[in-house]
Amino acid sequence: MAILVTGGLGYIGSHTVVELLNNGFEVVIVDDLSNSERFILNNIEEITGKKPVFYPFDLKRKELLNQVFDAHTIEGCINFAAFKAVGESQVKPIEYYENNLFSLINILQEFKEREISNFIFSSSCTVYGQADVMPIDENTPLKMPESVYGKTKQMGEEILIDFAKAYNRKISLLRYFNPIGAHPSAKLGELPIGIPNNLVPYVMQTAAGVREKLSVWGDDYPTEDGTAVRDYIYVVDLAKAHVAALKKLIEDQSGEAVIDTYNLGTGRGSSVLEVVKAFEKANNVEVSYQICDRREGDITIAYADPSKAERELGWKSGTSLEEALKTVWEWQKYLNSRN
Ligand code: NAD
Ligand code: WQD
Repeated sequence: MAILVTGGLGYIGSHTVVELLNNGFEVVIVDDLSNSERFILNNIEEITGKKPVFYPFDLKRKELLNQVFDAHTIEGCINFAAFKAVGESQVKPIEYYENNLFSLINILQEFKEREISNFIFSSSCTVYGQADVMPIDENTPLKMPESVYGKTKQMGEEILIDFAKAYNRKISLLRYFNPIGAHPSAKLGELPIGIPNNLVPYVMQTAAGVREKLSVWGDDYPTEDGTAVRDYIYVVDLAKAHVAALKKLIEDQSGEAVIDTYNLGTGRGSSVLEVVKAFEKANNVEVSYQICDRREGDITIAYADPSKAERELGWKSGTSLEEALKTVWEWQKYLNSRN
């Protein structure tokens, strides 16, 4: 029995594949390498001593996906595959709706016809927009995200809820806060493809001299130091949450539909400047930055109440911001050694 991991050579997917293999699962990866590179597969094998089955194709190609389900007994899916650049989604809406939703629906059609359950979806705290109350728990009302990207996440959740209810299946919606860091081996991390949209990869590249200066988008927010606050969760802790969520679905033999939803964060908020300072301290490097105007669409503050995942999954993110940021610098040094 195998777990289909779509986008399994991507940032979070590759770390999750490692945890799945280390927990004895058989893994089948489909990834079109649109935002990853094949060497990640070799590194997964180096870390775990196991080589997952890998299919390099676009999930929008239904006929190829059908062949994967014919060739393997799939007992669950973790669906990481998506485009995720918020800004890009605003100028390429149709590409984002097509890629993120057609891929999802193609997998669900296979699940429906073959009566497969146990589907885990990569969602995002972006579905909450700017929540009115902190910390954010799973009962917090959803707000229509401003970005097309965020809308694909909210629509994906709705599609899965309808799927679970109509066909009596088990699903888990995992709402990630801000994943950061790299694998302790320094052989997996967030690939620097293009100019980083996210804070930590940009901080990493600034410290490494790849970028001249970090732009801090706004220091006039109503926060302690005026910069925006987020919940930065270590990617390996996040990966472990996926294994726990999958095990919970597989173990549920009630025969009932299951619709799990979990906020995956540390429960701690950190400002942009706190992240910069923590990176400098953790790695004894300097990060030059300039204060700029706010970025369009950014919210002031978001951090999770992770108690439901702690209670129901027996999972907690225990890695500190500084520890996570140390792994980022080791990953950058690994990337430098490859060039
Ligand atoms: P990533 O881009 O590193 O990984 C996504 C992977 O999916 C890539 O390897 C890409 O090649 C692959 N892919 C994309 N479209 C595909 C398609 N049509 N067919 C086959 N493969 C395809 O992104 P990530 O940071 O690992 O994020 C994984 C998931 O988590 C995404 O769904 C993302 O929206 C979600 N998420 C990410 C964050 C974050 O900050 N990284 C936060 C919340 C949610
Ligand atoms: C964090 C903070 C920026 C870059 C996004 C998506 C979300 C999810 C995670 C996919 C913000 C500030 C950033 C920079 C900066 N992705 N920043 N200078 O915006 O919380 O969430 O990524 O699912 O859906 O919305 O993360 O890392 O982009 O920004 O000052 O060069 O850092 O303004 O306050 P964000 P981020």
